[in-house]
Amino acid sequence: MAAAALARAETRADPRLIVPLDFPTAEAARAAVARLGQAVSFYKVGLELFATDGMAVARELKAAGRQVFLDWKLHDIPTTVQKATAAIAGAGCDFLTVHGEPQVMAAAVRGRAGAPLKILAVTVLTSLDDADLKEMGYAESARALVERRIRQAIAAGCDGVIASPHEAALARRLGGPEFLVVTPGVRPDWSAKNDQARAATPAEALQAGASHIVCGRPITAADDPHAAALRVVSEMARIR
Ligand code: C5P
Repeated sequence: MAAAALARAETRADPRLIVPLDFPTAEAARAAVARLGQAVSFYKVGLELFATDGMAVARELKAAGRQVFLDWKLHDIPTTVQKATAAIAGAGCDFLTVHGEPQVMAAAVRGRAGAPLKILAVTVLTSLDDADLKEMGYAESARALVERRIRQAIAAGCDGVIASPHEAALARRLGGPEFLVVTPGVRPDWSAKNDQARAATPAEALQAGASHIVCGRPITAADDPHAAALRVVSEMARIR
């Protein structure tokens, strides 16, 4: 490949890479997006930005041709979940998370109706261990509950799940080749782990079955976020 074509190929965003905009204001989020330029095409808007300008940023990103993942983990009565999901679908967003309870998931799938919005279930928060679940009244281990909820997500018509690197293979096996397996807790081996205790590299997460990886601070907190994103993209290019 000629050098110019190689450079172009190297600077193309990988749509399997999702960068979270974990910032308190729209200004900070816009600045991060501007620094990343064409290296990133898919952004996650979480609860921190939601509390200020989340939907405005989401609409701006969509108008700029980016993909948008609203990580809002909806959990409410079915009518409310259905109406909120319909509004989000109407804004043209791409991914939405809901908690992995059958009633909630079914309501979100109804609310999405024929829109392209993908509904992703959060099975069990990774902050919860077996002791926490016992305290909450669950008789099963975290692993068993994750498996049950993946099966329920599939039955409810969800498009995929959020899965830690350690659950990605299970989700892929249960969901089949088209199922979305979105994996946070990703750390390239050249970056700090921050508070991600059981991280996997981008390549490990993809090899385990992730369809998408969420990788934030190794990119957004880097001295050169654009270069860091391209480094992750080039690592991902080895796994198809
Ligand atoms: O900066 P970092 O890569 O740790 O960001 C990870 C993102 O994924 C954050 O927005 C975090 O809220 C989210 N997330 C996570 N672990 C989960 C679910 C979501 O880190 N189990």
